[in-house]
Amino acid sequence: MIPVAKPAVGDDEIAAVAAVMKTGMLATGPEVTQFEEEFAGYCDVEHAVGVNTGTAALHVALKALGVGHGDEVIVPAFTFIATATSVSMCGAKPVMVDVDEHCYTIDPDEVSEHLNAKTKAVIGVHLFGQSFAVEPVAEICADADVLLVEDCAQAHGALCKGKKVGGFGAAGCFSFYPTKNMTTGEGGMVTTNDAALADRCRRIANHGQSDKYLHTELGYNYRMTSIGAAIGRVQLRKLDEMNRKRQANAAYYTKYLDAPGLKTPAIRAGCAHVFHQYVTELKDAFPADRETVMAYLREKGIGSAVHYPMPVHRQPLYAGDPGVRCPVSEDLSGRVLSLPVHPGVTEENCAYIVATINGAEW
Ligand SMILES: Cc1ncc(COP(=O)(O)O)c(C=O)c1O
Repeated sequence: MIPVAKPAVGDDEIAAVAAVMKTGMLATGPEVTQFEEEFAGYCDVEHAVGVNTGTAALHVALKALGVGHGDEVIVPAFTFIATATSVSMCGAKPVMVDVDEHCYTIDPDEVSEHLNAKTKAVIGVHLFGQSFAVEPVAEICADADVLLVEDCAQAHGALCKGKKVGGFGAAGCFSFYPTKNMTTGEGGMVTTNDAALADRCRRIANHGQSDKYLHTELGYNYRMTSIGAAIGRVQLRKLDEMNRKRQANAAYYTKYLDAPGLKTPAIRAGCAHVFHQYVTELKDAFPADRETVMAYLREKGIGSAVHYPMPVHRQPLYAGDPGVRCPVSEDLSGRVLSLPVHPGVTEENCAYIVATINGAEW
């Protein structure tokens, strides 16, 4: 089976973990600090704070920015649930808005329409490895005096107008879950150019501790482990190469897939897409339904997945707000289909997948 996702870890990561284990420093230690510095350097930001998941990165960043009860935070409806639940975890209300039908990222017009006096922040998601339309969203936020937070969980190394994601807003939040463009096992990182914000994130992620056993605010145990950081440092060195492989696989699919009604991913002008996922769309002209396609691919040894089958505002958790309308997200969730694009997919695999799809008689 060609899996739809697979972490690219090997002997280098194993050696790095073994070396850390021999030091006896298993929880947060110097390895984490080194990883933070290297990751900040990679993203071209001043500060990076390592945490234990991408969800924790979003939660601490929002808390550190003062998001709380009575606030609203605008999020796209078409994303992984954690973009919204991190807002709820702060006691604030996530306001789901629609995405653009080409690149599937937050629609700037929708952001403008949903701003009000309670809006404290906007979270733009760099979805599937592609930057959202940063310029218009940042401009809307600046005009309205609202904070911009980037959810970079799926876009390590992605570029918007030549600049890495993670440095456009007040904070950038990354995930290092095993399926992501780089991993630490579980892990996350907040990036920022604001030293005070970085300090506050660090404090909140460490029990709200401002000095040894002195707790000045409500915090959590969201610390990154040295073991995770050791894996992350090796992965960061390989990230550009792994992203290039993802891009080459994606380019192959886009060039050769020619089944009728199969929409291949759009790339936003001026942006470098790093293909966390290669997400196709089965338009009306496509001759089979998604379940049939997935079953057929599975039979042929090809993994596929749906990112995401239900938009956030339709989730049972949030379905209490019947006024929310996001028709593009709703339509997309019924049509999208992700194909294997990770660095472990060979050109031979790509050719087999293309031939299987193009030649299928559903
Ligand atoms: C867009 C997005 N935001 C946030 C997260 C949360 O990251 P984690 O799973 O590391 O908590 C993910 C992870 O899948 C994600 O894809």
